Amino acid sequence: MAESESTTPSAPFSFDDSPIARELADLTSRRKVLEGVRVDFTGPTRVITVSNQKGGVGKTTTTVNIASALASLGARVLVVDLDPQGNASTALGVPHTADIPSVYDVLIDEFPLADIVQTSPESDRLMCAPSTIHLAGAEIELVSQVAREHRLRTALEDYLAASEEPPHFVIVDCPPSLGLLTINAFTAADELMIPIQCEYYALEGLSQLLGSVRMIQKHLNPRLHLSTILLTMYDGRTRLAQQVADEVRSHFPKEVLQTVIPRSVRVSEAPSFGQTVIAYDGASAGAVAYREAAVEIARRGHQHPDEGAS
Ligand SMILES: Nc1ncnc2c1ncn2[C@@H]1O[C@H](COP(=O)(O)OP(=O)(O)O)[C@@H](O)[C@H]1O
Ligand SMILES: [Mg+2]
Repeated sequence: MAESESTTPSAPFSFDDSPIARELADLTSRRKVLEGVRVDFTGPTRVITVSNQKGGVGKTTTTVNIASALASLGARVLVVDLDPQGNASTALGVPHTADIPSVYDVLIDEFPLADIVQTSPESDRLMCAPSTIHLAGAEIELVSQVAREHRLRTALEDYLAASEEPPHFVIVDCPPSLGLLTINAFTAADELMIPIQCEYYALEGLSQLLGSVRMIQKHLNPRLHLSTILLTMYDGRTRLAQQVADEVRSHFPKEVLQTVIPRSVRVSEAPSFGQTVIAYDGASAGAVAYREAAVEIARRGHQHPDEGAS
């Protein structure tokens, strides 16, 4: 850029140098990179549970957007909505009124998973096992059931064994508690993904969550391991967000994804249109970040810590 001939003491405002302009240029180049990305999906189905006993940290948002982003990369993805709120089903545009067969029927009445799975209007490769309000009662009803911790796992194993084209990913959206629904997810999954909101109490409760994971590993599912931490609702303008991000990275250097999901209005608007942000506004900062996170997850592959150096 040519030197300004202006003699005014303070430099005149130039749009090219403004933070917004830099952000836009950055976003454009990140989108270009994403367009060129190719990922091969091979190997066994990866079953990932998205959990954090805190509510409102971005579990559901992460589940549906990572799922949609993986589908857009060419993967077949099944989302299992284990939260009675049914927000994941809503965001994937899948009907889930009380009369619709749902995960409740799978867990309590042993319906085959194939009987309840629906295809999201967003993509042929994106499926959803919806939740209905009945699931709110399942937490209690499961208590008296045989093999109450294994119900989802058994259903999923049967489903995958019978599928001609099994999904590459199964992503389970958990309710904000460590009850039997979440335990069913932990028993069914190989990988745990924890979304962490970059706020003051971010790490609070994490040791309780990881304690539960150790119990599950010991008694129910030795394959379960923390594979991924995703920092969400990041507001780069605050020093606090930066500090929280640094702290989480120092505790979990291998697990935290490079990609950070920014706080973005588009992300929070999308569900009210029955869409993920990938479909709603795929060029927005939130969509680009979720697509980058999905590429990272896909590229990391299915790795168990015990198989690696640690
Ligand atoms: N990156 C983001 N930017 C803005 N709002 C977000 C973002 N991620 C999540 N939200 C909003 O925060 C709220 C909680 O997110 P949600 O995914 O439902 O959390 P959880 O499933 O953990 O309860 C929702 O209203 C959601 O739209
Ligand atoms: Mg949720």
